[in-house]
Amino acid sequence: MDDFVRIHEVGPRDGLQNEAGVISVDRKVALIDMLGKSGLRDIEVGSFVSPKWVPQMADTDQLLARIVPVTGVRYAVLVPNMRGWDAFLKADRSDISTEIAVFISASEGFSQSNLNCSIAESIARLRPVIAAAQIHSVTVRGYVSCVTDCPFDGPTPPSRVADAVRMLRDVAPIPVSLGDTMGQGTPERVTEMLRAVLNEAPAAELAGHFHDTAGRALANIEASLEMGLRAFDSAVGGLGGCPYAPGAPGNVATEAVLGLLDQLGMQTGIDRDVIADAAQLAKDMR
Ligand code: HMG
Ligand code: MG
Repeated sequence: MDDFVRIHEVGPRDGLQNEAGVISVDRKVALIDMLGKSGLRDIEVGSFVSPKWVPQMADTDQLLARIVPVTGVRYAVLVPNMRGWDAFLKADRSDISTEIAVFISASEGFSQSNLNCSIAESIARLRPVIAAAQIHSVTVRGYVSCVTDCPFDGPTPPSRVADAVRMLRDVAPIPVSLGDTMGQGTPERVTEMLRAVLNEAPAAELAGHFHDTAGRALANIEASLEMGLRAFDSAVGGLGGCPYAPGAPGNVATEAVLGLLDQLGMQTGIDRDVIADAAQLAKDMR
């Protein structure tokens, strides 16, 4: 069994995007730069989305300008459409390793709420973005949200998740992160969902993205490891709780994932002491 697991740190983006209070660019850059020294290879730093929809991410161009890039680290940003792609290009960091992430939903309800369009329309919007990224040799990662449950449509049938992964990979065979957006998945349901998705994409091109709302994220990661996945998204300090529920858990905490993987004898190449310091910094930001 391959024992190397790749961790995608999403705290600066997924963790902070819901924070209602203003967090300065200085503090975000300090967090990203500390994370860069931990051995992480992938750090998602922000989003080029509408500032009306997600005000906290409106400074992503400034972050990209200010981070002190670490060799070997890839800095990722979310890009929902060509407007976001243009903003990414304008930020002009072709001197460092960057990646864009495109995102769709496995459920129509969340697609409408998050992207203001249907799943099919979201795929159509992404086509030119992926084509442009390919021309510029920028790597692309895909996200599929609501892989177990949707806040609007209820439980998501595994076949719907497989359909969404297929639609995305029909555009281009990009790696896909599977988002348990609601954090309500159980290991049994995650396993059933993965069984369907593995008909569309190999385990090596899939990642698990678990929110820890119900405290089952680590169990869901173990179930995903059993199914062959070796990449997971997490947020340092468990950033990402609901702004209206103080103390509620957000994304699964990077430090907790590293603890689990250590116990299981798996390797990540990440320094847990640096992550512990970054987790403290992240918690102090809220
Ligand atoms: P829209 O309103 O349908 O788009 O939004 P539009 O094309 O009609 O544009 C409306 C306005 O937005 C216009 O401005 C555009 O210029 C502007 P106005 O004329 O009203 O002043 N606009 C933009 N501005 C900046 N950057 C852009 C951009 N595009 C349009 N790229 C849109 C469509 C996708 C933009 C909007 O719905 C949006 O920004 N949604 C936010 C999506 C988001 O960031 N969600 C959170 C991330 S996804 C996530 O967290 C899930 C994940 O973690 C996995 C999981 O857990 O499941 C990845
Ligand atoms: Mg998420």
